[in-house]
Amino acid sequence: MKRALITGITGQDGSYLAELLLAKGYEVHGLIRRASTFNTHRIDHLYQDPHESAARLFLHHGDLTDGSAIMSLVARLQPDEIYHLAAQSHVRVSFDQPEYTGDVTGVGTTRLLEAIRSTGVSTRFYQASSSEMFGASPPPQSEETPFYPRSPYGAAKLYAYWMARNYREAYGMFAVNGILFNHESPRRGETFVTRKITRAVARIKLGLESSLYLGNLDAVRDWGYAPEYVDAMWRMLQADSARDYVVATGTRFSVRDFVSAAFACVELDWEQYIRYDARYERPTEVDELIGDASLARKELGWEAQVHAPELVRIMVEADVRRLSEELDGSAARRTRYDP
Ligand code: NAP
Ligand code: GDD
Repeated sequence: MKRALITGITGQDGSYLAELLLAKGYEVHGLIRRASTFNTHRIDHLYQDPHESAARLFLHHGDLTDGSAIMSLVARLQPDEIYHLAAQSHVRVSFDQPEYTGDVTGVGTTRLLEAIRSTGVSTRFYQASSSEMFGASPPPQSEETPFYPRSPYGAAKLYAYWMARNYREAYGMFAVNGILFNHESPRRGETFVTRKITRAVARIKLGLESSLYLGNLDAVRDWGYAPEYVDAMWRMLQADSARDYVVATGTRFSVRDFVSAAFACVELDWEQYIRYDARYERPTEVDELIGDASLARKELGWEAQVHAPELVRIMVEADVRRLSEELDGSAARRTRYDP
């Protein structure tokens, strides 16, 4: 049985990846942070699953800033594969916390790579790299596009990207960078723009709110569906050799397009509800990200199936359903991981 370690297992991608690996028969270990409130809502259905796979899921407390704990965890588990997904992942927040973002999102990767190198554990390493590293470089962006990060988050991810490459070249480590473009789902964090929009659409439709405050509506993104993107991560670690891949849909969609499509799903006119708030602008913006994932299609057999219009519908329907259940009291009571 293969053993995987996932950092960031409580996040959007970590939860889908844990599902995927458990379904493939892996033993799955996740690194989680101690929090003063419950933070495992995305994986509780896996942890207390009545099925056999729940017995193959293990959670370990730790933090990317705590190098010695990471080192001993890697040494103890000896995982076959490590998926490094944990990060301070919010671009706007990284302008307020540049040093912290550098420590967690950048140096956190080095701590893991060093843990692998110094313990001599034989493992395959996935680094969650980001299209934010392309920043100001015009689209379409591929593996050959020059990097030009526009935020402390983008700069931290670029440092981590080069560290993964350096450990591959210097020590022969099987370390890959998945350069993933934006990917979303009903489990997306509520402060990222897509989920902020679909959650507000549900609240407006059901009469709980009357407006939605947003920043730059002109930004263009390439939005895919998160469950498909974690499959691409897994494929990268099964390849014969380690190399870096762009993962994207290739579809152009602006924030305005997303807003308009989301309100249309519930038959409302978006222009009546959207208000502008300059606080959501960034000091430097990434105007346009559209990926070219030809290499992943050719070498990994991976291709996006869900594109932006369908993604919008999936997310709006999920938020309307979730809120309706909460309001009529029929929402299932969640079980929770309680260490
Ligand atoms: P997410 O939902 O924000 O999840 C981030 C995860 O990192 C959470 O589990 C979080 O734990 C954990 N974490 C944060 N700081 C930590 C620390 N100091 N120590 C240990 N764990 C920590 O992110 P996501 O959307 O799933 O993205 C996964 C990864 O892919 C991230 O590295 C992100 O930067 C990168 N990425 C994402 C996208 C995208 O569009 N989603 C695109 C490209 C790259 P808590 O639950 O306790 O907060
Ligand atoms: N969050 C947010 N909130 N963004 C807004 C808002 C708002 O109210 N109004 C407009 N936007 C614009 C942002 O300025 C940005 O251009 C775009 O919406 C997308 O913002 P986010 O959803 O926060 O995502 P991101 O593109 O900055 O970063 C995400 O994708 C990266 C990959 O390209 C994150 O998931 C990163 O972790 C990831 O690496």
